[in-house]
Amino acid sequence: MTSPEVAPEIVRFYTETIDEASRLTTAADGVLEMVRTQELLRRHLPAPPARILDVGGGPGAHARWLVRDGYDVHLVDPVRRHIEQARATGATVELGDARRLTADDDSFDVILLLGPLYHLPERGDREKALAEARRVLKPGGLLAAAGINRYASLFEHTAFAHLHREPMQRSISGILASQVHDGRRAFTTAYFHSGEQLRQEVSAAGFTDAEVFGVEGPAWSLLAAAERNTGRSFRDTDLFQSALTAARLAEPYPELLAASSHLLAVGRRPA
Ligand SMILES: C[S@@+](CC[C@H](N)C(=O)[O-])C[C@H]1O[C@@H](n2cnc3c(N)ncnc32)[C@H](O)[C@@H]1O
Repeated sequence: MTSPEVAPEIVRFYTETIDEASRLTTAADGVLEMVRTQELLRRHLPAPPARILDVGGGPGAHARWLVRDGYDVHLVDPVRRHIEQARATGATVELGDARRLTADDDSFDVILLLGPLYHLPERGDREKALAEARRVLKPGGLLAAAGINRYASLFEHTAFAHLHREPMQRSISGILASQVHDGRRAFTTAYFHSGEQLRQEVSAAGFTDAEVFGVEGPAWSLLAAAERNTGRSFRDTDLFQSALTAARLAEPYPELLAASSHLLAVGRRPA
C-alpha cells in the first residue's frame, strides 16, 4: 500500500535527517523512554500470545521486544527505510498509513499508535487514525497511543542551553501557543498534546477507561541537560536511576504530566 497523504517532510526527516533506529538506545532520555514505555505496556498487555498491530512502529524498537515476549506483531509505517529496518525484528511489516489500515475489522488484540498521533496536526486526521484503530481492534482490545507533551520543547531546549537565544525563543514560544511544529527546522511536522487533551481524544474516539501516563516523568530534562552539557553518557548513572524513580513516583499526580516528554494513553474498545 502506498501512503500518498503522509507529509513528504515527515518521510524525508526519517529517511535523510535522523536514524530513528538508534533514538531509544543512545541518549539517556531515549533509554528512559524505552524502559518506561516497556513497563507501562507490559502492565496493560494481555498475556502472550496475542496479535499486536504496531502502527507507526518505525524501525521496530518495540516490535523487537514484543516478538521476544511471545507476541505476534504486525508493523505498519509510511517510511520505506523503517519498513526495511523493521524486517529484522521478527514482526511482519507493511508500508501504510494510520488513517487507512488494510487490516480486517475486529482482528487485533492490541493496537499501538506510538507515533502517528503526534505527526498528524489536524484533529480530523487524528480522529481517522483512532477510528481505524478502533475498527481493527477486537471488542475488549487494548489501545496504547503516544503523544508528545505540549511543553516538551520548553524543557528540551532549556536542556540544550539555547532557549534564551533568538530565534529559538520565538520558535518555542510559537509551539507552546499553537501546539504545532511546522517542520521547517529541527524536528519535523508535529502536534503536541496536553495530557487531558490526549485522554479526551481517545475517549471521544469511543475507547473506555482512558488513562494517560507520563512516560519519562518529570526529571528527563535534568538527564538530557547533564548529558548534553557534559558530552558524557548518563545511561548507567545514579541520575538515570533517580529520573526513572521520579517517573514512577509521579504517576499518581496528573499535574506532573505536564513535565514529561511523552505521554501514553491507554484505553479499551468496549466489549
Ligand atoms: C518517533 S517515531 C516512533 C517509532 C516507534 N513507534 C517508537 O515509539 O519508538 C514516529 C513514527 O510515526 C510514523 N508516522 C508518521 N506519520 C504516520 C502516519 N500517518 N501513519 C503511520 N505512521 C506514521 C513515522 O514514520 C515514525 O516511524
